[in-house]
Order: sequence, then structure tokens, then C-alpha cells
Amino acid sequence: MTLIQDLESRLAAAFQTVLGESVSAPVVAAADLRFGDYQSNAAMALAKQRKTNPRALAEQVIAAVDLGGLGTADIAGPGFINFRISPETYAARAKEQLADPRLGVPEAAEKHTIVVDFSAPNVAKPMHIGHIRSTIIGDSLSRIASFLGHRVIRDNHIGDWGTQFGMVTWAWKQILDEKALLADPLLELLRLYRFANDAKKADEAVAEACRLELVKLQQGDEVNFAIWQRCIELSRAGLDKIYDRLDVSFDHWLGESAYNDALAPLVDHLIAEGIARESDGAVCIFSNGVPEDKAKDPFLVRKDGEWIDFPMIVRKSDGGFNYASTDIATIEFRNKEWNADAAWYVVDHRQSLHFQQLFAVAGRVGLGEMDLRHISFGTILGTDGKPLKTRAGDLPQLADVLDEAVAAARIAVAERSRVDTDEERAELAELIGISAVKFTELSHHRLSDYVFDLEKMLALQGDTAPYLQNSVVRCSSIFRKLEDPVDLAAVNPVFTEEAEIHLARLIARYGEVVPMILDDHRPNLLANYLLELARAYHSFYEACPVLKAEEQVRDSRLVLCSLTSRVLTHGLGLLGIRCPERM
Ligand code: ARG
Repeated sequence: MTLIQDLESRLAAAFQTVLGESVSAPVVAAADLRFGDYQSNAAMALAKQRKTNPRALAEQVIAAVDLGGLGTADIAGPGFINFRISPETYAARAKEQLADPRLGVPEAAEKHTIVVDFSAPNVAKPMHIGHIRSTIIGDSLSRIASFLGHRVIRDNHIGDWGTQFGMVTWAWKQILDEKALLADPLLELLRLYRFANDAKKADEAVAEACRLELVKLQQGDEVNFAIWQRCIELSRAGLDKIYDRLDVSFDHWLGESAYNDALAPLVDHLIAEGIARESDGAVCIFSNGVPEDKAKDPFLVRKDGEWIDFPMIVRKSDGGFNYASTDIATIEFRNKEWNADAAWYVVDHRQSLHFQQLFAVAGRVGLGEMDLRHISFGTILGTDGKPLKTRAGDLPQLADVLDEAVAAARIAVAERSRVDTDEERAELAELIGISAVKFTELSHHRLSDYVFDLEKMLALQGDTAPYLQNSVVRCSSIFRKLEDPVDLAAVNPVFTEEAEIHLARLIARYGEVVPMILDDHRPNLLANYLLELARAYHSFYEACPVLKAEEQVRDSRLVLCSLTSRVLTHGLGLLGIRCPERM
């Protein structure tokens, strides 16, 4: 049980005594420590409903509450209840956390089967920097949800069936360079894609030729199918390399093509059920008048002061199926085959209308019980404040971005690292470069745009991965300097200094922070918590000598060092970031 859970149940019991009925009494960590460690505004909310005086209610509740030695409670302002937790409680918590492999993080009370749909690049098209956000956020959310006890299915819903295959196939037949393809498949496929793209722009006949190649593929033409298969295999190998570097994995790679056979019957079914109908040769899903508020209806848009239809097309007028029909089939599959009761789509904000329509359709096909979330995110900017581009003006390739980060890390490592061999330095630079990219991503609110600034990302003093990794290394190094090992499990810690108490307070909050991330799918809560913890550790380290202190004090402080290092390491692990032994 976390302190919040403990306080909530004690507070609820007190309210029950006073009000004679059971109510819920939420408690949150106090934003300002001057008022206490935790806070509840339940008395105010409950008094309002009952039209009584909030302060008087709070007073009665405080008189009735049994805090069982956790600390003290008092009232502030119009009826806030503030809790101050005693140093003894924090010491007892620290001892418990020390013995707990979960470091005090409870499992979720309700477990779900969650499909995390993330990364999902379009094969045979470059995997660009935008996909990095999806990949990193999706991986971290998957790790966190699994740790909380959910059944997590990581699915890479790659775009492996779209128009780009017509283009690549057309260019393949013109200019494929076999050797280049074997050496660097993603690069060669990218060259083919760009070649077709340029040719198509210059010549309408090429556009038509590309479209025909796609139709041939979708109708099962053997040659085109073989080309497609090789494209997929080779791209997959190229992508695997990137995922390896990022330490990201998937349980499935069910791309768009996997649902091809399901689409015709699906659309027939939608028509038969009256969910979709023909319109101008295409099959579309229109507004059904729910919700009543037109501004919230994803099948309507406002134009010239009037609401007009904005249907979801599920079969194009040329008979082809599309992204939308594929996504409907995908939800059905995940629900029926995997028993998923939730799906998280980690996809950038430009697709939000698509997902609003998709989720509305899920409701209409009887999957309204599923918890479907579009976990959207903003744009990565260059140091000029505009969307990040390469010098040539293209979207940067993910692999190039990683290389660049690692190259910068190599310079930083050469300047400041204490590791000895070239090999170790190279390994460290790879780890630090990639960690820095990941942490920068995860420390920002996912909906905000952020600037990709390698220098800032790699700074040893700053809100960065290297800062946290270095804190772990320093924290653990104390144990190497101990003359005789200390059996921490036998220590009964006592905290008296403010810096000790504050560090213990933050460590105790770990179990509250991690579950909170999933309320709104925000790993930045964890990233920022870890930064706060590391800062508290450094203040503690300045204020409280460890190895030079007398035994009881030293041992209590060692408990804090050990817990700090474990929480930082574990928390970084949930963000998909490893810590080096030395740096
Ligand atoms: N391939 C898509 C893109 O790159 C993202 C797919 C997201 N997942 C989904 N089920 N629609 O934009």
C-alpha cells in the first residue's frame, strides 16, 4: 500500500464516522511542502454537496481520523486537510522498500489486456524522425503497463500495403541496384521511392504506371508479389537493426497487409448492418446523429457556417480498401483473437480525426466496451524552432539521427569519461547517445513540440539522461569505497536531517508516481520525478557525509544511497534506458 492509499482509506473511514455513509476521499501529494506532504480537498467537495460548512466538517474529520502514527493532520484555508508524515514513517517505508523487489510500486487493481500499437512505420518509405516519438513513447508505456501487471501486446502495425508499393515496384523494375539493396536495404528502397516520387511528379504517365503496379500486386500478380515480399523482408531486417539499437521489441508485426482478406467481408457486413452506405461510388460511414453536439461529431465539419458531412471512406470508388477499413478490421481482430479490452494508438496528432472516427465506428460495430485511446504527440523541432529537417530539406532519417547523437556522445565521452579502453568508450557513447535521445523525448509532455538540441541533450548538468546515469554511477560507487560490506537489510534507519527526510520522502513516492503515468499516458511524469530525485540526492550528498559519519548514521544514509540508486535504475528502465557501470 502506498502512503496515498493508506491516507485515503484512513480518511474515508473518518468521513464515514462523521457522515454516517461511505464516501471516497482522494488524497494527493502536496505541491508545496510548507503545507505538508499530502493534501485532500474532500471536506470541501463533500460539504458543498451537503450544503454545510467545509471547515467545520474538516475539523470533525480530523478529530475522528486515526493516522496510526503515520504523522499529523491539520486544516488550512477554507477546509483543506493537510498531512505531515513523520520521519519515523519514512524510515519504516524505506526499510520496506529495501526488501521489496517492486520498490513499493503496487500492481494495478484491475488488470487489462492492452494492445500497444506503436512505431508502425510505412515500409519501403523512410522511417523518419516522427516515428521516433511513437517508438520511444510506445515502448516506455508498454514497459510501464507490463510492470503494473497488465497483459501487454506490442504490435507493430507497419504500413506494408499502401500506394508506396506501386511506386517502389515501378522503380524496382527500372533501376534496382542489387548490391546496394543487400548492403543497406532501407537506403536502396528509399532511393527507389524517391526516384518514383520525382518521376511521378514530372510525368502523369508514371503516376498511372505506379498505380497499375499496385493494382497488379493487390490482384496477386506473381512478379509483383515476389518483389513486395522481398521489400518486406529486407525492410524488416533494416528496421530490426534500428529497434535493436533502441532496445525496443514487439510481440507481433501484423501490418496492414495481414488484414487484406478480412476487408471485403467487413465492408459487406458494414453495409448489411446499415453502418455504411454507398455514396458517389465509394462506401462511407456517415454521422448517425450521436453525439447530439455537432461540434463533437467526428463525421461532420463546419464549412461556411454550416455543418456538412465528413464521412469515413471504407471502400474507395475504384473498389480498393484503405487505411480506415484496415483499422476497423484490426480492432475486431485484436478483440476476438487476443481478447484485448484496450488498445493504445501511439500516433502523431495529425491523425486525430481518423482515430475519433475509428473509435466511433468501433462503438457501432459492438466494440464500445473496448477502451480505445489515441495517444497523440507533437512535432520535433530543429534549433531554429521549425520542424526538424535535413540540410537538403527532407525529414531526417531515424538511423541518421541516432548516428548523429552517438557521434556527439563520442566527443563528450572522450572529454569526460573515466573508462579505459576504446571499446568501452565506443560502447558507452552508443548507450549515452541513444539514452539522451530517449530521455529528451520522454521528459517532455507528449503533446508539446520540442527542440532537438544535441548539446543540451548530452549535458552532464541538466535535465538529461547523462545527468541521471551519472547520478546512479556516483550513488553506487559509495558502496565500492566501503571497507567492510554492510548488511543493509539489518539496518533500522533513522532520519533526522532535512535532506535525508526529503530524499526518503521522494523515494516513498515512487510507488505513487508510476501508476499515475497511465492516467493520461504521460511518461514525462516519471522522467521529471527521476530528475527531482537525483537533485534531492545531490543536495543530500552535499549536506550529509556518508562514509565519514558514525556507524548508525552512516548505515541509515547507505540505505538512502542504495534506494536512490535502485529507484533511479528501475525508473530509467521503465523509460527504456539502461545505466552503465561506469562513465
Ligand atoms: N503507418 C502509419 C503512419 O506511419 C501509422 C499506423 C498507426 N497505427 C494504426 N493502427 N493506424 O502514419
